[in-house]
Amino acid sequence: MQRVVIDTDPGTDDALALLMALNSPDLRIEGITTVGGNATLAETTDNALRLVDHVGAGRDVPIAVGAERPARGSFSHAYHVHGADGLGVDLPAATSTAYSADAAKFMRDRALAEPGRIAVIALGPLTNVAAALDGRPDVAQAISEVCVMGGAVEVPGNVTPHAEFNIYEDPWSANAVFASGVPVTLIGLDVTRGTSLHRNGGPRWFQGTSRSADLGNHILANSFRERADVQEFFLHDPLAVAAAIEPELLTYRSAQIAVVTDGEERGRTVASYGDGPVKVALGVDAGRAVDVVRTLISN
Ligand code: RIB
Ligand code: CA
Repeated sequence: MQRVVIDTDPGTDDALALLMALNSPDLRIEGITTVGGNATLAETTDNALRLVDHVGAGRDVPIAVGAERPARGSFSHAYHVHGADGLGVDLPAATSTAYSADAAKFMRDRALAEPGRIAVIALGPLTNVAAALDGRPDVAQAISEVCVMGGAVEVPGNVTPHAEFNIYEDPWSANAVFASGVPVTLIGLDVTRGTSLHRNGGPRWFQGTSRSADLGNHILANSFRERADVQEFFLHDPLAVAAAIEPELLTYRSAQIAVVTDGEERGRTVASYGDGPVKVALGVDAGRAVDVVRTLISN
């Protein structure tokens, strides 16, 4: 049983990733921390609260609020991808409220309470994770791994030709996390672009009559309806959760990762392969990975 804190900016693919994690018998969610990114922090937090209330009934999953945006630089949202409120589906209003401590404190406290037992799955900009690690080598030592959905090492980006969205949004925090010494697994566009659900595979991409399957199908149906030119829904964040459950779905090379912070190559992830704290995912068994996603959301 892998115990995880999930840092997220839901976000349609984040929502599928959260459904997987909530349904997985192999993960125990210690908590969810929210960050601004795909939508505003208020929207990503409300989306996380509504989703967990809707499908995780009675589950004690604290949701701690993190950073609205990075401490510096320009910042934008991705409503054109994720819909007007970041999710594009109507969920009942949340009945639960956010946790009392902020995201960075929540991450630090959980990691230090159980050194080596808690992993972080980071599905948005790395602002919260960097804050949790800032000036705290004991925290870098205590967190067992940070599994990051982010980066585009050997492939073009999705925000610019050089940069993937999560890293582009806060390249400074990404550099801090990659240099902190915490073990990082980097699940970037190099592998996530190989995993998708196709428009023609609906309307029941997920089988079963559960709230999870129903919500997953609604998210995809609405996403394809709002984006008539899009044929594939890429499973960026779901693949990061699948990798946390079954690392052998992917193949990796170790590296040091440096992130460009300024100019036209802002957000570019540059790998120096060899000995390094980052495992860069470069290959994926896409068929098996998509099966893991669909199986966990269907039921
Ligand atoms: O580039 C894809 C990533 O950016 C995903 O995490 C998606 O949710 C957005 O946050
Ligand atoms: Ca995300």
